[in-house]
Amino acid sequence: MAHEVRGVVALSKGAPVTVETIIVPDPGPGEALVKVQACGVCHTDLHYREGGINDDFPFLLGHEAAGIVEAVGDDVTSVAPGDFVILNWRAVCGQCRACLRGRPWYCFNTHNAKQKMTLADGTVLSPALGIGAFVEKTLVAAGQCTKVDPAASPAAAGLLGCGVMAGLGAAINTGAVGRGDSVAVIGCGGVGNAAIAGARLAGAGKIIAVDLDGRKLSWARDLGATDVVNASGTDPVEAIRSLTGGNGADVVIDAVGRPETYKQAFYARDLAGTVVLVGVPTPEMKLELPLLDVFGRGGSLKSSWYGDCLPSRDFPMLVDLYLQGRLDLDAFVSETIALDGVEKAFEKMHKGEVLRSVVVF
Ligand SMILES: NC(=O)c1ccc[n+]([C@@H]2O[C@H](COP(=O)([O-])OP(=O)(O)OC[C@H]3O[C@@H](n4cnc5c(N)ncnc54)[C@H](O)[C@@H]3O)[C@@H](O)[C@H]2O)c1
Ligand SMILES: [Zn+2]
Ligand SMILES: [Zn+2]
Repeated sequence: MAHEVRGVVALSKGAPVTVETIIVPDPGPGEALVKVQACGVCHTDLHYREGGINDDFPFLLGHEAAGIVEAVGDDVTSVAPGDFVILNWRAVCGQCRACLRGRPWYCFNTHNAKQKMTLADGTVLSPALGIGAFVEKTLVAAGQCTKVDPAASPAAAGLLGCGVMAGLGAAINTGAVGRGDSVAVIGCGGVGNAAIAGARLAGAGKIIAVDLDGRKLSWARDLGATDVVNASGTDPVEAIRSLTGGNGADVVIDAVGRPETYKQAFYARDLAGTVVLVGVPTPEMKLELPLLDVFGRGGSLKSSWYGDCLPSRDFPMLVDLYLQGRLDLDAFVSETIALDGVEKAFEKMHKGEVLRSVVVF
């Protein structure tokens, strides 16, 4: 039996998104049907709508979600109907070269549902990041469902499914921030502010937030920044150096992803320090650096895909920290909206008015 539900679709490049009738198949082998309770609006959804990811329109948008498993395929044992889950886009295969080496967070063959969700006329939909969760019910691979404590608010917990996990993991996993480290984060949207929260959790001493927008910096202070730098009027490299005894920070995280912010991160870091790139650049961007500086400054230059997270390891742990009051996920939920509010949420995101708008069902 197929399910007829409502969902947010980008029908063609650049056109405003619309709410459409979606046909969702019953779960087959290895699949789960999830009743979505909440789904955050991420910059990547907007990238899909603008044709910046690929041209496989129409897209079923939404991918930062939590909900309740409604049904599973016959062979599924990892989750069961009634489980509260966060959806992930890293259902690891266990068999690729990364998984076999014990580094499943780099898995090169992650799973999605095999069956397709469609529009009422049978047009096959491309689900954003292999999820598609601005919809009342969605079909995913069972491995994309990570069971967590149901005491958590779905709107807050769902954010761990993408941007907030990417930021937390950029600090904790990729940057390996440790007790007493100095950390600077360039760009304090949902991802950068999560990196700040991650640096605090990991025990960083000094946490410097850099943005062009004062609103973002005041949220950064709430989430753990010890110092803030408004780069619209101040050179961020000089400011970070002077806040770190003239040396630069141990770990600098670029949560914007542009050549100029990457260069700032590169030079605002102490000798032998670490740069983490978590913001996503666009194809035409090029980076130019003196190779002697790359050598002479030492340390490591890393990129962070999805915060190098392993959902089965990280989601339940972070939800537990949230429930203990040690990680303020609610601070990322700027507003809750209805399914037909996604287009307006894109505008607010563009104007920098929100960390996250979250669709609740
Ligand atoms: N690596 C991953 O797995 C992953 C996952 C999710 C999102 N992302 C990426 O992370 C990036 C940030 O996402 P977001 O949701 O936080 O976006 P956002 O638009 O909410 O935040 C970006 C922030 O950067 C600030 N900014 C822009 N230019 C700046 C500059 N020159 N100097 C300082 N600050 C500047 C903006 O004011 C804004 O606060 C995006 O590129 C997004 O695609 C990456
Ligand atoms: Zn794998
Ligand atoms: Zn996302």
